[in-house]
Amino acid sequence: MNGFVLELDRAQTADLEDFRRAVLAGLSSRPRAIPAKFLYDARGSALFDKICELPEYYLTRVETEILRTHAGEIAELAGANSALIEFGSGSSVKSRLLLDAMDPAVYAPIDISREHLDRSMALLQRDYPSLAIEAICADYMALDDLPKLPFSSRRLGFFPGSSIGNLEPDEALAFFRKARHLLGGEGALILGVDLKKDPERLHAAYNDSAGVTAAFTLNLLRRMNRELQATFELDAFAHEAFYNSADGRIEIYFRSLRPQSVTVASRNFTFAEGERVHTEYSYKYDIPQLEAMSRQASFRLRRIWTDPDRQFAVAYLIPA
Ligand code: TRP
Repeated sequence: MNGFVLELDRAQTADLEDFRRAVLAGLSSRPRAIPAKFLYDARGSALFDKICELPEYYLTRVETEILRTHAGEIAELAGANSALIEFGSGSSVKSRLLLDAMDPAVYAPIDISREHLDRSMALLQRDYPSLAIEAICADYMALDDLPKLPFSSRRLGFFPGSSIGNLEPDEALAFFRKARHLLGGEGALILGVDLKKDPERLHAAYNDSAGVTAAFTLNLLRRMNRELQATFELDAFAHEAFYNSADGRIEIYFRSLRPQSVTVASRNFTFAEGERVHTEYSYKYDIPQLEAMSRQASFRLRRIWTDPDRQFAVAYLIPA
């Protein structure tokens, strides 16, 4: 394997001290909240991969189908010898569709989970032995610049999975601006985004009948127990997710099922029955909103592809 992992500034990785500080601050504030990036330890990342295969979770299947159908066109827009840079690469499954169609000079996945990155890159390198891989272990929102990459051609950013929706609107705009900066004047951004639709469809996607999404949320409690010597009882809390149509977002929490107190890193926290801790939002967009956000970040929508039911969109953005 000729890929290697570049570890940037330690402050940019979700290390233990970072986790401890964020959890203590999040449980001390009102409303209580813990940043979603901490959901993705090794087990959390594996559970997330399972979510993507659930019957109710249409997002992955629909996005994959859109990418599969239009990969040739994407490759044509991108041109030869691009560098494919993925923001939050996870298991790099979707990037394979682009790699197959466009044969880039280099693939640079950015992911916060070192374990996940190592494992996915080993698999990818096995299947693409001649592909140059430059893995970057970092929180992409904390990157000021890309490390020197051995290429000078077009930087093609890839941000699939509607991860844009997991950012607050102001953070989403900040991401657009960061991507615009990192990708440069010749760059382009391929964005996958879940569209506004029937709330029941949305609700089902985040409340699957097999309980995998619940396990994903509650894995955060396990992680706190393991890494922060916390005393959460896993069956005394529940996953909660619902669509807030006024704000156009799915809201995800864990909720205390009874009054209880929990120790976390030697500190004591009490929970009322029904008290919630926020873990994540999943904002849903429409195309005018995407256009407005692109414009504010000096991008423009060059192409946009959707499925026949207009559930999901893949957009190709270029500098305005
Ligand atoms: N970005 C995807 C979404 O919003 C995946 C995701 C992030 C997710 N966090 C999640 C899915 C929590 C289920 C539960 O849908």
